[in-house]
Amino acid sequence: SNLKHLFMCLLAISIYFSAIVHLIPVSTAKNGVSSKSRKRIMPDPVTEPPVTDPVYEALLYCNIPSVAERSMEGHAPHHFKLVSVHVFIRHGDRYPLYVIPKTKRPEIDCTLVANRKPYHPKLEAFISHMSKGSGASFESPLNSLPLYPNHPLCEMGELTQTGVVQHLQNGQLLRDIYLKKHKLLPNDWSADQLYLETTGKSRTLQSGLALLYGFLPDFDWKKIYFRHQPSALFCSGSCYCPVRNQYLEKEQRRQYLLRLKNSQLEKTYGEMAKIVDVPTKQLRAANPIDSMLCHLCHNVSFPCTRNGCVDMEHFKVIKTHQIEDERERREKKLYLGYSLLGAHPILNQTIGRMQRATEGRKEELFALYSAHDVTLSPVLSALGLSEARFPRFAARLIFELWQDREKPNEHSVRILYNGVDVTFHTSFCQDHHKRSPKPMCPFENLVRFVKRDMFVALGGSSTNYDDACHREGF
Ligand SMILES: *[C@@H]1O[C@H](CO)[C@@H](O)[C@H](O)[C@H]1NC(C)=O
Ligand SMILES: *[C@@H]1O[C@H](CO)[C@@H](O)[C@H](O)[C@H]1NC(C)=O
Repeated sequence: SNLKHLFMCLLAISIYFSAIVHLIPVSTAKNGVSSKSRKRIMPDPVTEPPVTDPVYEALLYCNIPSVAERSMEGHAPHHFKLVSVHVFIRHGDRYPLYVIPKTKRPEIDCTLVANRKPYHPKLEAFISHMSKGSGASFESPLNSLPLYPNHPLCEMGELTQTGVVQHLQNGQLLRDIYLKKHKLLPNDWSADQLYLETTGKSRTLQSGLALLYGFLPDFDWKKIYFRHQPSALFCSGSCYCPVRNQYLEKEQRRQYLLRLKNSQLEKTYGEMAKIVDVPTKQLRAANPIDSMLCHLCHNVSFPCTRNGCVDMEHFKVIKTHQIEDERERREKKLYLGYSLLGAHPILNQTIGRMQRATEGRKEELFALYSAHDVTLSPVLSALGLSEARFPRFAARLIFELWQDREKPNEHSVRILYNGVDVTFHTSFCQDHHKRSPKPMCPFENLVRFVKRDMFVALGGSSTNYDDACHREGF
């Protein structure tokens, strides 16, 4: 029956998949069919296509809301007590940041309509509650941002209704696990038990609000205070790091050279440029894949002009190149260098918060960082999760801190990415479970990694952030 189940899953996924690819209606493709596949972050040889399929990957990236997914958050033996939780999210589905020149923008409505798909039981209450909110709950300049998406034709980069629903769903899932099951917050919780931080984009603030609305039993504006983070790396006062920038420049050079080698890609950009009648260079600079993903995620056909249509073959070539680029990026390790330095400040801040919780402090038990792909990617890479998929819309990366009630001085961590337990894939806890009966990683491993080993991993002689950032002769 397991096999049968697997087969049904595969069948459902492939129906869903071909329905979107050909943009044909298929009634069996409604809910839930992709939830199994969406859970996976590491390639799974049993159930995944043997050759990476660009459209399959793109649909995972869309993260189209379906029935509630199962997840591994909060799984622990009963003698473990949940101490604190640290959540990093990418904003939900958004409108493109770029337009394909000389074509009509996809018509997507960013106003929230409670009974329009995708919906969520809390969507209507969310709209009503947000419309009564005030900017007083946020650090400047966040207080000038709208609290929910509200344009009949989405603005560039605006969060869509899909994006809101994705995070209402994340919030509700985390509420069931962390609040209802593990009682992370007391009933009379107070503002200082939350730590909330977001970049200054409306889509990150709104994603954070949607998640909290799904998460908190009562969303009291007086208890919500979002801090503003100016840097997408969340590096606060420690952003100056010349060696990190050098890694990034080398990584960008690698990317550029890989692109030059791909003649099929150049040909595809050339064809598309002809269709929209602009120079190839201009088309490429408009990053058409961003817009095309929006078309795909929203089942809106690709744009046409009188010279022809942008089509799925174009999409596949560009997306395949992206996948190839990610593969080479892992191999060449320049991005790893960038990531180790780029992610240090936020990881350091997180273990600081965890350490205070191990000392019995009751503040900041739930931390939420509402961020971007360029935030989550370096953190994943720095942790050694280089096989993890690129952060999809509304991706979540969670650090859980646990205390062993039988040995109260022992604290452990679990790391989860999109609901999958990846603790033993991290470089600081690889294979730990083979030596220890505990289904978690000792907190000290994470501390040692952030305080020292992540610099050792850079290969120089530095053992701290300042030295590593200013290494001569790199
Ligand atoms: C995609 O759009 C077409 C109309 O363009 C519609 O008939 C079809 O049901 C949609 N498919 C999905 C999977 O939503
Ligand atoms: C790391 O965190 C500690 C406090 O927990 C702080 O004193 C130190 O400056 C931080 N280091 C960096 C590089 O962010």
